[in-house]
Amino acid sequence: MLNNKKIIAISGSIREGSSNTNILKTIAAFIPESIEYSIYEGIKDLPHFNPDIDRTETPAVVTEFRNTMSEANALIICTPEYAKGVPGVLKNALEWLVSSAELYKKPMAIITASPSIEGGDKAHESLLLTLGMLDTVVVKNGSMLVPSVGTKFNANATIKDENTKQELIALINSIVVELDT
Ligand SMILES: Cc1cc2nc3c(=O)[nH]c(=O)nc-3n(C[C@H](O)[C@H](O)[C@H](O)COP(=O)(O)O)c2cc1C
Repeated sequence: MLNNKKIIAISGSIREGSSNTNILKTIAAFIPESIEYSIYEGIKDLPHFNPDIDRTETPAVVTEFRNTMSEANALIICTPEYAKGVPGVLKNALEWLVSSAELYKKPMAIITASPSIEGGDKAHESLLLTLGMLDTVVVKNGSMLVPSVGTKFNANATIKDENTKQELIALINSIVVELDT
């Protein structure tokens, strides 16, 4: 049953016109209408992770973020690579979820998109390690690199590369199958 299921996406780029955010917008077309899909845009507002303030007075934005993650039945992360790693803003957001465990055993798909031919493979690898630490489940076929991202999408963010389109559809299907069981 897919009704009432929710997929939440997070972009690792908070840049206006981000290619990663555009991918998350594009894949909305491949998600069945019965599933609620939204892109969470609040990670830019989270303070730097600090276990001290989490123990004493958890900031309201963190509580709101955790509640949103808790409500998700599955998550999709699409991120660039910065300085051979996961962008700080995304890593920071994930750090807030380590002890509170909202992502525990949650199905996930991850995409790394980069203008480089490596497709942000170092960030991808690092993100997988972090998600392993969080005990999430990256679904089969739920992991994808988009190298040379600028050549795969048109200026209006529609996909012009058929292979990329098919890979994204397969990735979404893997998550949907997981939610349907
Ligand atoms: C400071 C900085 C560091 C970057 N480091 C990397 C990197 O290590 N590997 C990579 O593939 N791209 C790197 N890039 C290029 C980004 O992948 C590129 O800007 C990408 O378009 C950002 O994603 P977005 O379009 O979703 O914002 C870097 C860009 C900046 C500004």
